[in-house]
Amino acid sequence: MTPRIVILTGAGISAESGLGTFRDAGGVWTQVRLEDVATPEAFARDPAMVRAFYDARRAQARAAAPNPAHEALARLEAARPDTLIVTQNVDALHERAGARNVIHMHGTLDGALCAACGHRWPWTPETMTETDACPGCGRGEGVRPDVVWFGETPHDLDRIADALDACDLFVAIGTSGAVYPAAGFVAEAAAAGARTLELNLERTEVSALFEETRTGRASELVPAWVSEVLGD
Ligand code: OAD
Repeated sequence: MTPRIVILTGAGISAESGLGTFRDAGGVWTQVRLEDVATPEAFARDPAMVRAFYDARRAQARAAAPNPAHEALARLEAARPDTLIVTQNVDALHERAGARNVIHMHGTLDGALCAACGHRWPWTPETMTETDACPGCGRGEGVRPDVVWFGETPHDLDRIADALDACDLFVAIGTSGAVYPAAGFVAEAAAAGARTLELNLERTEVSALFEETRTGRASELVPAWVSEVLGD
């Protein structure tokens, strides 16, 4: 089904589930340098450190529960199957709230990727070490989380571009608009004639590109907006 509503989510939608954002005060990138943990070069230099960083994030994500914002989007998707959720988040909180039509454009903590042979597979253990051999090539040294790092291409960009071209409504939730290509989706949707709405704790660098910005906590803004769309 062609999506008519495209929703882009970022770390802000999971903040009230207890998962840290990246650029707010106390955010992940104020504590660790992204060049040390979120690039292919960092993994080549110190794979054990990079795996340990994502082991900690995986443990936090699995311990977290979806909040009313994730639940409201799952309710919207159930009532409007022409909804597509594109998330930059590597947690599984949309799915755990019941959403099915989710693109993880920055990958997932519940997946592994072999840097040696490119094989991808689901990852259920809590930690990842080089003794975990790749089921594709049998080697262990390239086993890494299946998350997209800086300098790598996000997933499903063609499918997302098609959805942005065809949608009537584009909504960005809990994302600062600092990272491309996701930050450019609003312009793409607007150019294709869609209405654009931003739901975020505060105004962002890209707020001026949206027709409307509502500021507040996702756990309040998102359920209220979903009720508006569904007319209930
Ligand atoms: P950021 O940390 O850059 O932005 C989070 C946004 O959420 C900010 O604008 C906050 O104001 C807002 N926010 C915080 N709490 C909120 C709440 N309770 N309700 C609503 N909004 C809230 O995170 P992202 O935009 O997701 O990529 O970052 C994009 C990408 O940068 C990430 O996917 C990650 C990161 O580097 C990679 O690692 C490749």
